[in-house]
Parts: sequence; structure tokens; C-alpha cells
Amino acid sequence: MISCKSPQELKYMRDAGRVVAGALEEISKAVRPGVTTAELDRIAEDYMEKAGAIPAFKGYHGYPACICTSINEEVVHGIPGLRELKDGDIISIDVGAQVKGYYGDCAVTLPVGNVSQEALDLIEVTKKSLEIGIDHARVGNRLSDISHSIQKFVESRGYSVVRDYVGHGIGRQMHEEPQVPNFGEPGRGPRLREGMTLAIEPMVNAGTYEVEVLPDNWTVVTKDRRLSAHFEHTVAITSRGPEILTRR
Ligand code: MF3
Ligand code: CO
Repeated sequence: MISCKSPQELKYMRDAGRVVAGALEEISKAVRPGVTTAELDRIAEDYMEKAGAIPAFKGYHGYPACICTSINEEVVHGIPGLRELKDGDIISIDVGAQVKGYYGDCAVTLPVGNVSQEALDLIEVTKKSLEIGIDHARVGNRLSDISHSIQKFVESRGYSVVRDYVGHGIGRQMHEEPQVPNFGEPGRGPRLREGMTLAIEPMVNAGTYEVEVLPDNWTVVTKDRRLSAHFEHTVAITSRGPEILTRR
């Protein structure tokens, strides 16, 4: 069952979304060569505590941190630690929080210092693919219209979309029905209705879409070790069109 949120529930989801977006903004300001991913995690934890929010990832299936930090060939679920970012890296930062029982989930990929044009292009295409997907999150469309629009755009630019990890419904739980793949035929799946809230999150690889999990049992990397980027927003489907809940 896909839950449709009431206007009051959407207010709470806006609160959660605002905290997530604010945390991500603070973290982003600290991204530079020499900073460790553990320092970024600390910024997130402090921000959420001040905002009265609960970090959504910490303890989730045993996950040990507040954010995910995935560098270069890492796709998602990189664990913050003592690794220092270096000039030319790209880093995907994923943040989730719970406020008044409702969740927000958001991710961006950022360049660290001066990065290659190849990396910048990948970031731009991934960001744009999220915007295109969001633009298809409209009442009356089918779920896979979102998925298809993302895949079509990404592949038209010569990149691939990850198959093994997908977006998701979100609300009283971080992961609700339905799954939101970033690939597929258009016109399939449930019809989108007012009050549905989705975390749309394209993961885009420079090379093959195949991924594997490192021995830490969390970090997902590209099989060919080429670059990957990830953008995510929590979006509400409204009669006035898609509303991005995780935007400042
Ligand atoms: N944003 C990711 C997701 O949608 C984050 C989950 S990572 C975990 O699934 F650490 F919480 F597992
Ligand atoms: Co998510």
C-alpha cells in the first residue's frame, strides 16, 4: 500500500525536509581538500541535534554514522571516517533525518577543489536527471514515467543508471512503498496521486551500471571503478505539481 499524506502530515514532512536540506548545506560548505569525512559527519550530527531532529541513518540495519559519504567510484553508502578528501575527488553526501515522526532524505554530489571536466559533466547530468524525474512526479502519471524519464536522459548522455539500488516512498518510515527505480518502460506501475511522497534518487555511473559491495558490507562501488554520482530529493505529489520538500 502506498500511503497518501494529509496536509498536516505534509507539514511535518516539510519540517523534516528543511532540516535535511539545512544540514546538507552546512556540510557542503565544509567540503574542501583536507577535510575528513568524519568531520562532515560531525557537522551533520551537530546540526540535527540543534534542530531537534533524529539522524535517520544511524543504527539503520547497524549503519554506524549520520550521513553517507561516497567518494569517486563509490556509488552510495560510503561510511565516514578518517579519509581526507583530496583535490580532484568528487563526493556524494546523503543525509536523512526524522522530525515529529516523519522522514526527509536528500543527497548531492560535489566536486572537491579542481576536478576533471569528465567528473563535472557526470555531476551535471545526474543533477539534471533528478530534475527531469521530479518533473514527471505528477498526479495522473504512472510511477515508471519518473523512472523512464531518468534513464532516457542519462543514457542519451552516454552514462548508465544503477539497477541494484532504487528510490523509495518515504513518510513515517524512511523506506516505504513503492520502490522508485531509475530505469524502466514508461506507463507502468501505480498511478501517482495527491499526497504521495517519494525519495527520487538517480545513481549514475560513467561506465557500466554494475556495482559491488566492499568487504565493509556497506560501501557500494562501480564494478569498473569508474566514477559515480548521486542526487536525491524527497518530493510530494500535489495538485499544483511536484513539491520538493528537501530544498532550502
Ligand atoms: N538515502 C539512502 C536510502 O535512501 C540512505 C540509506 S543509508 C543507511 O536508502 F545507512 F541508512 F542505510
Ligand atoms: Co533515499
